[in-house]
Amino acid sequence: MTRKQNNKPMDKLVSLCKRRGFIFQSSEIYGGITSCWDYGPLGVELKRNIKNIWWHDIVTSRANVVGMDSSILMHPKVWEASGHVEYFHDPLIDCKNCKYRFREDKAVHSFKCSSCPFNFKINNGKIEVNDEFEKHFGGDLFAGEPETYKNSDCPNCGGVGTVKLERLNCPKCGSSELSPPRQFNLMFKTHFGASEESATEVYLRPETAQGIFVNFDNIVTTARAKLPFGIGQIGKAFRNEIVTGNFIFRSREFEQMELEFFVKSEESAKWYKYWVNERFDWYKRLGVRSDYLRLRQHAKEELAHYAKSCTDIEYRFPFGWSELEGIADRQTFDLDQHIKASGKKLSYFDSLSNNHIIPGVIESSAGVDRTMLTILTDAYWEDDEHDRVVLRLIPKVAPIKVVVLPLVNRDGMPEIAKAIFDDLRKHMAAFYDQGGSIGRRYRRQDEAGTPFGITVDSQTLEDGTVTLRDRDSLEQIRISKDNAVKVLQEKLAL
Ligand code: GAP
Repeated sequence: MTRKQNNKPMDKLVSLCKRRGFIFQSSEIYGGITSCWDYGPLGVELKRNIKNIWWHDIVTSRANVVGMDSSILMHPKVWEASGHVEYFHDPLIDCKNCKYRFREDKAVHSFKCSSCPFNFKINNGKIEVNDEFEKHFGGDLFAGEPETYKNSDCPNCGGVGTVKLERLNCPKCGSSELSPPRQFNLMFKTHFGASEESATEVYLRPETAQGIFVNFDNIVTTARAKLPFGIGQIGKAFRNEIVTGNFIFRSREFEQMELEFFVKSEESAKWYKYWVNERFDWYKRLGVRSDYLRLRQHAKEELAHYAKSCTDIEYRFPFGWSELEGIADRQTFDLDQHIKASGKKLSYFDSLSNNHIIPGVIESSAGVDRTMLTILTDAYWEDDEHDRVVLRLIPKVAPIKVVVLPLVNRDGMPEIAKAIFDDLRKHMAAFYDQGGSIGRRYRRQDEAGTPFGITVDSQTLEDGTVTLRDRDSLEQIRISKDNAVKVLQEKLAL
């Protein structure tokens, strides 16, 4: 079960993101468009840093991984072969009483232990407690996806898999008179050609992965890849999500960072384990607190149609434990499907066995926007002692690495500060600010997550030193202004 939390931190983060220019509602001047977001000057830098770190760690730093960039619009047969036309659905339920339509996981879920009186409800992401529950765990708990609790172990009597889903109710009127779930395809359709009538229907890709599978032969041939090897891709994906929300957590247009790692089928278990560990560590290396991260293995009935096994990496958001990334053993499913549908050879020649084989594939599929939300949520800190809000971003992901400030706007301080800024920005993302009191300028940068501040003051005029301020400890040391680039490069390990 999850710890006591409230939703306020999310509202505060949303408002900081707007105030500081990280994230804006799309088309805001026209009233906005649901679940589409625009990334402002700081947001775009943070996002780019995340993608660059992924690309370095997963693609360029590895001898056996190459990258690619496939088109968003692909032949419609790709999505028939991949199973998306048939299977990529969300279950929707209609309430027979109030006619409200909602996604199955948004129904009020009642759970009950089959061996003891323990029971609880999940309503709108929140666990509704009763006396029995409260006795053990207290109240006001935010839950993860209801799916997580099906057949889970009972925290009261210790029964293994005894917590069962008992009933679904309408989240609006509470009625249990509901239609059976009906499937709604999540792919966006558009048209290729001059007029809608004559044109071919095409889809906006719902994942980047298929662009990799259909290019398998091109890449094996041109990159002369030898198993095991991976192909990585970062790009936009689109899903007509029925239920959106939680800021940038689930939107209709988002970015994925996907790796398809091809292996000999008999080695798939080993590589699956390897990538689960690698990817879990990756989030920790981005500065995310490890006790806010967990791995969740999918139960058999939860597995996607293509997967033999799947593990989600989850983060404890203010709205509950939720998925950041999935690592799946997709076996030979995708290549098999495209071979069947296209009639083309998508195999690999194994020189050891002198045989053409279809490799298995381990997929790591992460969301750029979800990683960004995780990093922002995790870094958000209200420092009451110093009356400030800080984004404790690690320097590597921080949009701005250093701010340069003249203490006052006279005595030649702005000129010296500008010269230092001009020098610094050749090497790193730097910012110059001379407007407002020094305290306010520092606070603005604390909210932007800028790890270091350089201030030119009256002592600079005497001995050429400046103060170097550390965002988190608030420690200030003096360094020579001529050494600013070198000192910061060392601190940032750029
Ligand atoms: N190729 C496999 C695949 O696409 P997925 O679990 O559907 O698997 C992978 O998506 C990741 O993409 C998710 O873990 C999440 O980070 C991101 N993602 C999926 N749908 C999203 C949405 N509507 N908004 C933001 N990110 C999303």
